[in-house]
Amino acid sequence: MTRTIVLAIFLTAAVANADELLFPNANFESGTLAGWRVEGEAFQVQPTKGDNPAVRNRETSNHEGEYWIGGYENYTGTIGKPGAIRGDSLTGTLTSPEFKITKPFITFLIGGGDLPGQMGVKLICEGQEIELASGVDSETMVKQSSDVTKFLGKSARLVIFDNATGGWGHINVDAFTASDKAVPDTTKEFAFTDGISAVAYPDTGYDQPLRPQFHFSSRQNWLNDPNGMVFDGEKYHLFFQHNPKGTGWGNMTWGHATSPDMVHWTQRDHALLPYRIDRRAGTIFSGTAIVDHNNSLGKQVGDTKTLCAFFTFANKPTFYQAMAYSTDSGVSWTYWNEGRAVVPNQGFDSGERDPKVFWHETSQRWVMVLWVQKKPGRVRFFTSKNLTDWEFASDLMRDWAFECMDLVFLPVDGDRANTKCLIYDASFDYEIGTFDGQEFHSETEPLKMSRGNFYAAQTFNNAPQGRVVQIGWMRGGPNSAQAYDLPYNQQMSFPCELSLRTTPDGVRLFCWPVKEIEALTKRLHSMKDITLSGSTNALADVSRLDLVDLTVEFEPGTASQVVFDLPGVSVWYDAKEQVLKHTGVDNEGQSREYWTIDKLPPRDGVVKLRLLVDRLSLEAFAFDGETFGAHYINPKLGPQQHSIHAIGGEAKIRRLELRELNSAW
Ligand code: FRU
Repeated sequence: MTRTIVLAIFLTAAVANADELLFPNANFESGTLAGWRVEGEAFQVQPTKGDNPAVRNRETSNHEGEYWIGGYENYTGTIGKPGAIRGDSLTGTLTSPEFKITKPFITFLIGGGDLPGQMGVKLICEGQEIELASGVDSETMVKQSSDVTKFLGKSARLVIFDNATGGWGHINVDAFTASDKAVPDTTKEFAFTDGISAVAYPDTGYDQPLRPQFHFSSRQNWLNDPNGMVFDGEKYHLFFQHNPKGTGWGNMTWGHATSPDMVHWTQRDHALLPYRIDRRAGTIFSGTAIVDHNNSLGKQVGDTKTLCAFFTFANKPTFYQAMAYSTDSGVSWTYWNEGRAVVPNQGFDSGERDPKVFWHETSQRWVMVLWVQKKPGRVRFFTSKNLTDWEFASDLMRDWAFECMDLVFLPVDGDRANTKCLIYDASFDYEIGTFDGQEFHSETEPLKMSRGNFYAAQTFNNAPQGRVVQIGWMRGGPNSAQAYDLPYNQQMSFPCELSLRTTPDGVRLFCWPVKEIEALTKRLHSMKDITLSGSTNALADVSRLDLVDLTVEFEPGTASQVVFDLPGVSVWYDAKEQVLKHTGVDNEGQSREYWTIDKLPPRDGVVKLRLLVDRLSLEAFAFDGETFGAHYINPKLGPQQHSIHAIGGEAKIRRLELRELNSAW
């Protein structure tokens, strides 16, 4: 008997202390909005059922039970379908039934956009309106408590309101309870975005028939810009903009691969993952990595030099530049000051981005080059001694400048005593000049390098022998996952060595595939002095071709076209228009004729070309790399037989070297 009473008292106390549902259906588990009043459009198709953000490859919702309010979602279990969306543009309110405040705290799950004043949860009590919370810029809801002690015993209502129509203009909520204690506020703490794992993929094989064989592609999913390219003293690191959750752009993360020679790559676990800090959730946009050779950061462990990765923390309302460092050569990373800004937004553009950082020997300082404004185009230079405090140095006003600035030093014609500075942007507009540690002084007009599917290139920091090697993102083409049933989408260009050479027009940039490609040579065919006329095919004696590195010097002579029919692509020199053309593929997968390289007049009657053909791409270099184009091809629509021949007259091959290549995988 006594025992029963004690147990009963204990149970009552326990229940009194437990969180209680604030009012019936305060957790939406009826699967309806019973008890709630709906106004406007935003909450018409609610509550949502299940983890729908995860279904559409976003963060997990972290809801309780089955149902919750997911402002972006368009699935109730009966209406819509999992992963369907209503978007950000709708506005409205959801008003709760009246309830009595019986405990000092109201605790609930909240997510969606952090737009205080425009969107969130408010309490209406005794004619007062108190905003309790807005979202956290993440689909993942976080538990939060609001102190309502002063309203104890009073009647109140909750209003979930959404007046926001732009980015993150939706609110997520669930499970309103009355509680005796507040949950600790974790909304401002550093937290990785839910549902994104650092673990790279199991080896999915690189032997699919249409997988690039000597170009880097991720084992799985989407990639765009190369990031943080650096040589750590032993190996090359290629980080890259990566979506770990799909074959389209999104969830920007730094993927990671390493290589002893820039040709053979091994994919590693993802390096930098999206996170939240101070209630701002963001993803990791492009940037650079450096080797902290003189321990400026003071974090070096043993003899292993620290790697520092500078990146753009892409978050709302304004991006900023942050840094993470690794004391184990890029295996694990620590976010400096929990991912807060090392360079705050400069107030020009909400999307200021893509820091390039390098060591400037003469001034003994680190330099950051940052694109900060589109119109007028502004590139801002900063300097630092310790890699964390950055001082304004100068602004370079250039309308051509947009995204992904890179700046490197190159000797002119190999003369180290005459070293110049090259600055370029994502679309490879460039200028050559000098950099004094504070300012860039131009010595050329704005020039342009590449054409085709080539964007956001950058160079390896710290490369041996002062080499400057560049990789670009081969932007565009069809989604290879959809078009060719591959597990990934998008690839990098082949690494090219940059050099400055004197030309009749002045000093110009040259770009040439790295010599390490020769290690892939399977067979070499060399030919000389072949006249192409009628049905002559210079490749008549070469059997099956697959991966090709072709260097050729030819005189177009009287021919109207000199044709290179290679695996998956036909490339031809149009002697009348003096351009190089090929059968390429547009973003929708349609095959069409492209200009591979425009403006290609013969020099002393000769055209010099180099063509790299991989399963899905063609890279063409003219006159030792003075111009180049990188292009996606549609191998299914390419020529059936390989041949080099002339049309409409006689042409002459002076010299030809065809390397059949092995796969790098
Ligand atoms: C260039 C770019 C960068 C940005 C990144 C985002 O392609 O827009 O400016 O950092 O892609 O993925």
